[in-house]
Amino acid sequence: MLVPHTRARKSSSRLPADTHQIVNLTRTLDDSYPIVFGSGLFENIARDMREPTPNATKPLASQFAIITDTNVGPIYAPALQAKLSQAGLKSAVFYIPAGEENKTIEACVAVMREMAVDGFGRDSAILALGGGLVGDMAGFTAAVYSRGIPYVQIPTTLLAQSDSSVGGKTGVDLGDVKNLVGAFKQPTVVYIDIQTLSTLSAEDFRSGLAETIKHGIIRDAEFFAFIEGNIDGVIARDPNCLFEVVKGNCRIKGSVVEIDPEEQNLRKILNYGHTAGHAIEALSGFSMPHGYAVSIGMMVAGRISVALGYLPEGYLTRQKALLLRAGLPVQIPPSISNEDIVALTLKDKKAREGRAMYVLPKRIGEMVVFGESYATYVDKAVVLEALERTR
Ligand SMILES: NC(=O)c1ccc[n+]([C@@H]2O[C@H](COP(=O)([O-])OP(=O)(O)OC[C@H]3O[C@@H](n4cnc5c(N)ncnc54)[C@H](O)[C@@H]3O)[C@@H](O)[C@H]2O)c1
Ligand SMILES: [Zn+2]
Repeated sequence: MLVPHTRARKSSSRLPADTHQIVNLTRTLDDSYPIVFGSGLFENIARDMREPTPNATKPLASQFAIITDTNVGPIYAPALQAKLSQAGLKSAVFYIPAGEENKTIEACVAVMREMAVDGFGRDSAILALGGGLVGDMAGFTAAVYSRGIPYVQIPTTLLAQSDSSVGGKTGVDLGDVKNLVGAFKQPTVVYIDIQTLSTLSAEDFRSGLAETIKHGIIRDAEFFAFIEGNIDGVIARDPNCLFEVVKGNCRIKGSVVEIDPEEQNLRKILNYGHTAGHAIEALSGFSMPHGYAVSIGMMVAGRISVALGYLPEGYLTRQKALLLRAGLPVQIPPSISNEDIVALTLKDKKAREGRAMYVLPKRIGEMVVFGESYATYVDKAVVLEALERTR
């Protein structure tokens, strides 16, 4: 008889001794890791990779698989590889085709095949060089390749530097369901190099700003006010503003993830704007950037919160004004119907009995707590009304 070990341990005294055995795997886990902020960091990265990691006597790996995509790779991978080589480290570059439509298990398998052919084994580590797509896919590859090898995040989009590179969620899409296959796998270290943001398109930069504004709303009124006061400098990518933005984002995301690494409750607040946002993104055929969809999704969730009496209207006005100044959309495109959005949100794994799950703001910097939970099911009629007002 197979007995799950936690249950077996609790009831073992009631089981006859000759019917089972316990494989005792109680462990204390320390998944802590540093986030390093800087500008022009590749040399530091190479130097660090040569040194023993904290609490270890040897370097992270003896060879490094730089996983990147076909847009960002040509810009930055040669420079990173050159620095690694100058530091006496072996590396090879593996390309994923750019674009969310390539966030598939097949693309990960293709990279893993190439890594195997190139002799990458358990003594290797992955360097994830790119946006959220690369970070999620390279992290997932690290979680399963050779039953798990270390990985380092070198995020190059504002979204990845502010959000996806921190927290250890990795994975790929399956069909039209985002991130259905994945693993929690924390990086060994994250290097946030704001210089890489200089080549990012205006659209991708704005997309990352949506998550930045989201962070202010869900947890930090002061950070929100900083963005309000410095939005022009942020958009001009002034280095001082960028440092404040990435540091603030990582502080907020890190503080949430530390309390709730596996999204039991508090981490759900990071999904603000994502219930309707994900649906709108998918219904645009993924032609709409993620952050744009989240921006519209935050307007929908904000309106739901106003309608249910949780959020005073003035805060919604402030949210909308900042999203507009950041160049983000705040209205649902006419080509996407309310009914389709609702139908898709109900397909989500978190939906129950015809109601989708939302996290709702109470004011700038604080989310509503429903009993003990940060998320609540919202009736379809309330959602439809909010969608209609977001046009
Ligand atoms: N793991 C998480 O917690 C988490 C959180 C949010 C989003 N995500 C995931 O992140 C992904 C979206 O990430 P994204 O917005 O960074 O998209 P992305 O990685 O697709 O990057 C957007 C585009 O910018 C290019 N690019 C990246 N860096 C560049 C640079 N410095 N200069 C020029 N071009 C550059 C890319 O090649 C791509 O074409 C989605 O798959 C989403 O599911 C994950
Ligand atoms: Zn997001």
